[in-house]
This record gives sequence, structure tokens and C-alpha cells, in this order.
Amino acid sequence: MPIRQLSVSGVRNLQPLTLTPHPYINFLYGDNGSGKSSVLESIALMASGKSFRTSQFKFVLSQQAERMELSLCIDDENLGEAELHSLRLKTGDQLLKINGSVLTSQAEAAHWLPVQVIEPNTFRLLSGSPEERRQFIDWGVFHVEHEFMDHWKTFRKQLKQRNAVLKQKEQQWLEVWNPGFIESSEAIDAQRQSYLKRFKPEFDAALAQLDETLEVELAYYRGWEKDTDLASVLERQQERDLAIGYTQSGPHRAELRIKCGKQPAVEILSRGQQKTVVAALKVAQGSLFQKESDRRTIYLVDDLASELDEKHRFALCKLLEDLKCQVFITSIDKEKLTDIWRPTASKVFHVEHGVVTEIDHALPAASTTHD
Ligand SMILES: Nc1ncnc2c1ncn2[C@@H]1O[C@H](COP(=O)(O)OP(=O)(O)OP(=O)(O)O)[C@@H](O)[C@H]1O
Ligand SMILES: [Mg+2]
Repeated sequence: MPIRQLSVSGVRNLQPLTLTPHPYINFLYGDNGSGKSSVLESIALMASGKSFRTSQFKFVLSQQAERMELSLCIDDENLGEAELHSLRLKTGDQLLKINGSVLTSQAEAAHWLPVQVIEPNTFRLLSGSPEERRQFIDWGVFHVEHEFMDHWKTFRKQLKQRNAVLKQKEQQWLEVWNPGFIESSEAIDAQRQSYLKRFKPEFDAALAQLDETLEVELAYYRGWEKDTDLASVLERQQERDLAIGYTQSGPHRAELRIKCGKQPAVEILSRGQQKTVVAALKVAQGSLFQKESDRRTIYLVDDLASELDEKHRFALCKLLEDLKCQVFITSIDKEKLTDIWRPTASKVFHVEHGVVTEIDHALPAASTTHD
């Protein structure tokens, strides 16, 4: 069971709460503004240090509170048990702990919590900037390749130094910085390429199950031109790099191109179809993670009913159920989801004015399913 217990206080309108989720499916239902998304947001905050709804923590902190505290007991198939604790004060100070010991980086908490979020903004993965799709690939690589984080940190440092040299127009220093920059760039690129090779069949399978009529291809651009080594590209672009004061090519410019034939998918597909493609990307990533790590993904699925029609909603829920991962899924009314989907291994929580209550739910067999 990934998350065995969750305690939250000081988040938006939520009253201090402790939940014991089901190892598989958890439904949260309640009226608009009751606090459903805030529960999911709390889990995401613990995993990534960031909210999926705002870039500013001050909006997450309950208006009446001086501090936010999150505690998660994790029982991971592979890593074992751990208790993660996050404390954030209004003043901006924060403390992250694992089993009582202070963590100096968010990456360790992220390592323990392989969380995938599917919520209204997630669907911007297709239409948003290349950075969003780079982060998407890197989530996958980070969670299966243990050295990736080190390569990434080294690369960021090298890029910063190289850009500083370019800005100062200190051409003589480029010779010193280029070899390290090239080495870390190539390491990142190799891991991304290898990951995407394994990811593509997972994506094709997930998409076929969600909507067999969609044909979508994934193409990876590594951030510098094909069949040319990065050293030659840097040499050729040196003059322009110096003129503009930053490095034009490298893994920071990589892109995952999502296409229908030769056209960008975002220009061709309907909004609903785009959402289906994003859902397939998310499912494929969780599925590959599970296969390669022998661990389980945690899915936070917010407001699905407003995003996909009943047929696609059912197909996605079924895929998540088949993955045997832990899912937290919200809906305004219980029937919107449970009418079409009756997973046997589940718990239902009612959310009302920030109070979350587990309800007894002896769900009768579904009358309308889309088998
Ligand atoms: N910082 C804050 N402090 C206190 N209350 C807040 C804060 N930020 C938001 N709220 C309130 O907390 C509630 C949070 O709602 P949340 O978005 O979790 O609801 P929801 O159940 O997901 O609703 P919906 O069905 O509309 O998506 C809202 O009523 C909102 O007005
Ligand atoms: Mg909501």
C-alpha cells in the first residue's frame, strides 16, 4: 500500500484531518468548494513541494493558519515503510523530514511518492510550453534511473556557468566549461532517449485502450540537431551564443513532439481528444514505472467528470483499476463515477465544508457498465 495514512492541517478550507486511504481506489465526493481538490493538492505538495493549482504557497495556506503540516505514512512494496513530514510556516520557513530526520532536498520525498496528477490543468501538457513535456519525460527518468538526478544537477550547474561566461563575453573560459557541459548533456540525453524507447509501446497500448480511433506519434528532439555531435554544434553556434548571452542548444532545449501524422496533435485534435491523449501519457508513465521499479504509482485524479465523456471516463478508470495502483479520484456527486465504475477494492469519502468523512459504501453491482 503506498499511502497508508495521511494527516493534513492548515491547507485551504480543510479542517485538520487524518485519513486511512484504501490501497487501491479512493473516491472523494462533495459539493463545489467543499475541499476535494485540496486533499489531492496536499498529497501533491508532499510529493513535489509544489501545488498543481498555484505557484505560490501563501494561497494554499489556510487563511486562518500560521502553519501547514502534512504527514504521510508510506508502505512501499519495494522501499519499505517511511513517515514523511512537511512543515511550512506563513513566514516561508519550511522543514521536511523522513522518519524524524531532516531532508535537505525535495527529491527524496519525491522518490518515495511517485505521484501522477490528472486534473484540469494537466491537460495543458499538450498545448503548453516544451518545458512541461520535458518535465514529464524527466519524471519518468528520475523515478527509474537513479543516477539521473546527479546528472541533472551537474548539468544545471554547468549550464549556469556556461551562460555566465557567455554573458560576460569571456570567450577564453568556454574551452574550460564546454567538456563538462557536453558530458552531462550527453548523459541526460542518453537516459531520456532510452526511457522514451521503453515508454512509446506503453503509450500506444494505453491510447488504444482509451480510444482506438486516435493515431498519435511521439517524436523526441534532444535539444540539438540530429546526427551532429554537441561539440560541433556549440562551436558553430559560439558566436551567436556570445552575442545573446546564453546557450542555444542542449538538453534544456529538448522537446517531446506529439503529432498526428506530420502535424502537431494540439492543432488537429479536439479538446476532448487532447485530454484522452494526455490521460494515455499519464497512464503509460505510471504503468512503465510500476513495471520497471516493482512499485506502485499514486494517481491523483481531480474532477474527471468535467474533463472526459462517460465512455472515456470509464475507459480511464478501468485502466487505472487494472494497473492496481493507488488512486484518489474526486467528483461532485458520487453517482457520476460509481454509476459507471464499481471497483471492488475501494473506499468512499464525503467532503463537506472542509471535513472529510469516510462513508460506509456497500456498492451494489453496476447496472450500466461499458464492458
Ligand atoms: N487559503 C485558503 N484558506 C481558506 N480557504 C480557502 C483558501 N483557498 C481556498 N479556500 C476555500 O477552500 C475551498 C477549497 O476548495 P477546493 O478547491 O478544494 O474544493 P472542491 O471540493 O475541489 O470544489 P470543486 O468541486 O469546485 O472543484 C473553497 O471553498 C475555497 O473558497
Ligand atoms: Mg475541485
